[in-house]
Amino acid sequence: MYYPEELIEEIRSRNDIVDVISAYVKLQKKGSSYFGLCPFHNEKSPSFSVSGQKQMYYCFGCGAGGNVFTFLMEYENYTFVEAVKALAQRAGITLPEAEPSAQEKKEASLRQRLLEINKLAAKYFYYQLTQPQGEQARNYLEGRKLSHETIVKFGLGYSNKFSNDLYQYLKSAGYDDYILKETGLISLDEKRGGHDKFWNRVMFPIMDINNRVIGFGGRVLGDGTPKYLNSPETKLFDKSRNLYGLNLARRSRRPNMIICEGYMDVISMHQAGFDNAVASLGTAFTSPQASLLKRYTDEVLLAYDSDGAGVKAALRAIPMLKEAGLRSRVIHMEPYKDPDEFIKNLGTQAFEDRIAHAQNSFMFEISIMERDYNLNDPEGKTGFFNSVAKKLLEFNQELERKNYIEAVARQYGIAFDDLNRLVNRFGLMSGYGQERPAPAARADGSGSKEKKRQEKEDAVVTAQKLLLTWLCEDTGLFEKIGSWISPEDFTDPLCHEAAVCVFEEYDTKKTVTPARIISLFEDKDEHDAIARAFNTTIRDEDDKAAREKAINETIRRIKTASLEHKSKTARDISVLQEIIRQKKELQKLHISL
Ligand code: GTP
Ligand code: MN
Repeated sequence: MYYPEELIEEIRSRNDIVDVISAYVKLQKKGSSYFGLCPFHNEKSPSFSVSGQKQMYYCFGCGAGGNVFTFLMEYENYTFVEAVKALAQRAGITLPEAEPSAQEKKEASLRQRLLEINKLAAKYFYYQLTQPQGEQARNYLEGRKLSHETIVKFGLGYSNKFSNDLYQYLKSAGYDDYILKETGLISLDEKRGGHDKFWNRVMFPIMDINNRVIGFGGRVLGDGTPKYLNSPETKLFDKSRNLYGLNLARRSRRPNMIICEGYMDVISMHQAGFDNAVASLGTAFTSPQASLLKRYTDEVLLAYDSDGAGVKAALRAIPMLKEAGLRSRVIHMEPYKDPDEFIKNLGTQAFEDRIAHAQNSFMFEISIMERDYNLNDPEGKTGFFNSVAKKLLEFNQELERKNYIEAVARQYGIAFDDLNRLVNRFGLMSGYGQERPAPAARADGSGSKEKKRQEKEDAVVTAQKLLLTWLCEDTGLFEKIGSWISPEDFTDPLCHEAAVCVFEEYDTKKTVTPARIISLFEDKDEHDAIARAFNTTIRDEDDKAAREKAINETIRRIKTASLEHKSKTARDISVLQEIIRQKKELQKLHISL
């Protein structure tokens, strides 16, 4: 659904950010802003600020920031549209609904009914578990050390011993054969009639991120094959795009997500307090699942079984995670098979330690590669380092590659320069990338010129952010700086976009609403960056003389950088002359407040 910008703005302006955030974070007034403990990182003294005037929040500790929509997206893990809906409801604004096509209506009502049936089935399985016929299953779960609370939280259940128990129940609830077949819970047979897919099993309802039951896994009580049965894919159940436990893990305050192999692993981890655990659905981990995780985290820990199959699964998952932009590390479970057994035997703290020592996934991949070579044999060793050097070319960012070369060199006792040379050689051979591996000379500090250039650039960007902050706080500044600065002078792409919006709003309305501007950007990283741009402060700004000096210096810095930038791209002599004239003019700059 596409909502017009004016509507988004109305919803935003009718939800005061201080009110909304106060429901989540305890805020205290300090000066013109409110401060509290940041909900997005751990801290002991408050660096999370909320400005009623700007209608924005910003954390000076971790850099999280944005408007009221961003806050709900971050805190509740909502999408933008979900945040819009929630805030519209809060403000009593009715959102327009798109009229669906006949086909869409039919699909939606089918999905709706399948959801209903799945929910009903989950309730039925749970009910069976609580009844006398569920005793064996209850004992089984107890034997696996699951608490009553955990059983309820995951909605575990039991499918009865009769092979058409659920079928009869759903029929009596008024559902016909056609729709029951679509659920994947029932098969229809000309001779035998309808019968259940699951019987005499412990049932694990599988939920989507919105807590709706979309399928089931069922485990035999004790030994027997197949150990697990899973619902087939249906109109609701797409195994490659959902993850078991993500409905709970998405709300975790832990800084990463843990992927494991089995449902039981997820459940025992949550029970032990690792509420960021998820698992794939009886199939191998997929790219869409990696993208799904990327919505909630930047780092994934792999807690696969410690056997050969687990290693293989990890090796398959790592490139997909990387592709989705996620960092990954591998948790070692030895001497136990999986997280469930590990936690049962060694406890929570020991698992916490394993998390802290989880191995960088590249180093893990290398350690597996190492098994194919005999490092005590010169030839084997050469072969190994050649393979490692080729693999190091996966990192196309120079600094990152160098850090890894360093880590490998340290771990495997090869000189940095030797390995670096090897990497460069393979890099040249494969005609690798635009960004060449660093020439060795850089390693000894002669790169400081590069560092200076970077620092200077940072100072200019900071200046641009400062100016944006001041313009929002004091719109009187526009008239004072108008002859010197225009949006084109903001050379940083994000500041430039923000400046265009800010100047345009001032020109047409004589006000500036930074919180409105944030809604124009899609990405959360952009929201942080813009909030930073509108919340850049310097010390002493209460002192008028200091403030005046700061403003003049800031404008001079921005303008100088902008003119330098222009002169680099100028082709025309008259343009260059104009730039020189403006540079001279700049010496006369004096803005008084
Ligand atoms: P237990 O602790 O023995 O209950 O199982 P687990 O959680 O350790 O699971 P395991 O490592 O044996 O298997 C991991 C996952 O693979 C399970 O959660 C299932 O989704 C799936 N799986 C396991 N066995 C089977 C099977 O026989 N058939 C199918 N289709 N999937 C299975
Ligand atoms: Mn297990």
